[in-house]
Amino acid sequence: MAKKGILISFEGGEGGGKSTQIVRIRERLTKAGYDVIAVREPGGTAVGEQIREVVLSSKNTGISFTTEVLLFQAARAQIYREIVLPSLKAGKVVLMDRTRDSSVAYQGVVRKFGKDLIEQLNNMSTQNTYPDLTFLLDVPEELGLERRAKAGGMDRLDMEAKNFHTQVRRAYLDLADEDTTGRWVIIDARQSLDDVENDIWQQIQKKLK
Ligand code: TYD
Repeated sequence: MAKKGILISFEGGEGGGKSTQIVRIRERLTKAGYDVIAVREPGGTAVGEQIREVVLSSKNTGISFTTEVLLFQAARAQIYREIVLPSLKAGKVVLMDRTRDSSVAYQGVVRKFGKDLIEQLNNMSTQNTYPDLTFLLDVPEELGLERRAKAGGMDRLDMEAKNFHTQVRRAYLDLADEDTTGRWVIIDARQSLDDVENDIWQQIQKKLK
């Protein structure tokens, strides 16, 4: 597919501040004259938000890991068809709060479905679309969980044992390390919000040049 826009994803474990940074970066890009759209996974479409409710509700403790894999992919397939692919085609900058790498880290590595299987499903859901730039907002899991608990609204996955979050962090750092495309940028998200924003903004400017 001819892709004219640019896809920027924000990834990481809990409490890295992805959504706060997306709001800030969206504003900076808009001020700089770019046509920007920001979406989150799971969710971002009417169908996707309904899937989000099912997969993240803390009431659904009985969800099987396989169901989890497929629900995240179902939400992804919908958002790419409805929003991401048309926006890229129209030349927009698309900011995504999580996308395919969340499934690789959480379901592929931590839930042990394997990266290859998850990437095959990702390719089906996204029609082989990869982000041009992926920010890993990295924080030690203790700090991330502390921030998340303060912010409230712990979902089903937030409530997993600490060991789960340790594995998520490791999985992401490994993905960034193994990357051969140069799309991953690790950001030290222990820093102040302003410093994190500036680090991200510098990288985006380089990419947009
Ligand atoms: P969200 O409320 O967006 O959390 P966060 O603020 O941490 O981004 O919830 C998304 C949760 O779903 C998060 O715990 C990660 C998980 N997730 C997966 O396990 N696989 C996926 O493919 C996606 C998109 C999210």
